[in-house]
Amino acid sequence: MAFVNNDFGDVLLHRESVRDFDPSVKIPREELQQMISEAITAPSACNLQAWHFVIVDDEAGKDKLRSYFMKFNKPQLDSCSAMIQIFGDTLAFKAYRDLWNKACEDGRITPEKRDEVLNTFLPLYEKAPKSMLVNDSTVDSTIAATQLMLIARAHGYESNPIGGYDTTKAAKVFGLDPERYVPVMAVALGKPAKNGKDEMKSARYPASQVIEFA
Ligand SMILES: Cc1cc2nc3c(=O)[nH]c(=O)nc-3n(C[C@H](O)[C@H](O)[C@H](O)COP(=O)(O)O)c2cc1C
Repeated sequence: MAFVNNDFGDVLLHRESVRDFDPSVKIPREELQQMISEAITAPSACNLQAWHFVIVDDEAGKDKLRSYFMKFNKPQLDSCSAMIQIFGDTLAFKAYRDLWNKACEDGRITPEKRDEVLNTFLPLYEKAPKSMLVNDSTVDSTIAATQLMLIARAHGYESNPIGGYDTTKAAKVFGLDPERYVPVMAVALGKPAKNGKDEMKSARYPASQVIEFA
């Protein structure tokens, strides 16, 4: 799909959180799927791709989100075209063997290379403490979320990342195993309402304050 905005500088530097969307805008499901497939070109630790996306684009789904979102996120939730609740998948390593077997079948790597990758990385995850699985899947999902927000701009939409919700409820509301799926953030997508963009752009500390050369 051709991007409606293919100006990287504009996509990256003019992204800002939008909290008031035009509720009449519907994003086709094929386009939502397309945006996610573009977002998951993101890098991930050991290529584990430990992310999972629940796409909400109707009132029934929004009611589920309303049951655990904080009140101050109601305007975005009510007005957005879609809300993507992103989870880290702490058991993503269970599909890892299939991924590399397929790459081998497709002739993209040799059987020797596949075995080397599996023997190096798979035991790391099979024996990992839960904290590492949560951490790695959170990092993977956060990178995919960042790509999603930028991809959304390339498709002509705006976004708002959202962490203000009851993290203990998110997985259960969607019938997911809360031991396996850890909520990372939700991303609201849509077109801004007429005055939907905040008048004041969010401030940043100067880079000199947050960097050091070692
Ligand atoms: C992990 C995370 C959680 C956030 N949670 C919320 C939220 O619950 N509600 C909200 O309105 N904005 C939320 N934000 C958006 C931030 O407030 C916003 O990104 C920040 O103020 C910078 O503004 P900008 O996105 O316009 O550049 C969140 C952002 C991140 C990265």
